[in-house]
Amino acid sequence: MTVRQKLYEGKAKILYATDDPQVLLTYFKDDATAFNAQKRGSIEGKGAFNCAIASHLFQQLEANGIATHFIDQPSANEMRVRAVQILPVEVVVRNIAAGSLCQQTGLSLGLVLQQPLVEFYYKNDALGDPLLTRDRLLLLALATPEQVDQLRTMALQINDFLKSFFLQCGITLVDFKLEFGLDHHQKIILADEISPDTCRLWNQGEADPTQRVMDKDRFRHDLGDVALAYRQVMERVLQQTL
Ligand code: C5P
Repeated sequence: MTVRQKLYEGKAKILYATDDPQVLLTYFKDDATAFNAQKRGSIEGKGAFNCAIASHLFQQLEANGIATHFIDQPSANEMRVRAVQILPVEVVVRNIAAGSLCQQTGLSLGLVLQQPLVEFYYKNDALGDPLLTRDRLLLLALATPEQVDQLRTMALQINDFLKSFFLQCGITLVDFKLEFGLDHHQKIILADEISPDTCRLWNQGEADPTQRVMDKDRFRHDLGDVALAYRQVMERVLQQTL
């Protein structure tokens, strides 16, 4: 495989074209940003940790019937993926109240939700990734009604899988963000990454609300030991199959 030009550089990853138009190469960086890139830093080893975690989770999801863009992991920081047209929508699933849900609704941190909450956000940095209603999604033609239904169904299936998977790792899956793309048959497949950058993960054996955090909240809120937490997630995830 020959790597060709850089197509896009994001906050945490770089996307390269390859000699096969159906295949892209993603490079996972150590760079970290939070609060719409107002906070910037670097977490040593994060790129490799996230690449390993996401690769393993995508393979496990594929084995459980969820179509993803994952092809293989040619090196520690690199993932080969199917070329897709990314939908400009971030799909967030929440099992426990945290983050913006608490800020915007007044729900207490840690409240266990009766059923998973699925939310859609407009992937638009200039607008600050606003929360969308179903009608706004349709108004902006970001997805068809059938696609919205399918995104919700897939997000809930992925949540069912990930919740059980992380439980076996001794980790509570609080919430997470997904991105989807359309392949060349216009089929929706899971894209981007699933990692401690995109999930809230709490260590089950730990009651202390700052000690239990194993995800990017350690970086967002200066809790320390960020790389250590990511490494621990990786070690537990790589040992686990479902
Ligand atoms: O900030 P908020 O509570 O809405 O985030 C919900 C979940 O989505 C968290 O796990 C967060 O890490 C993830 N997220 C993300 N990328 C964004 C926004 C949220 O990975 N742009």
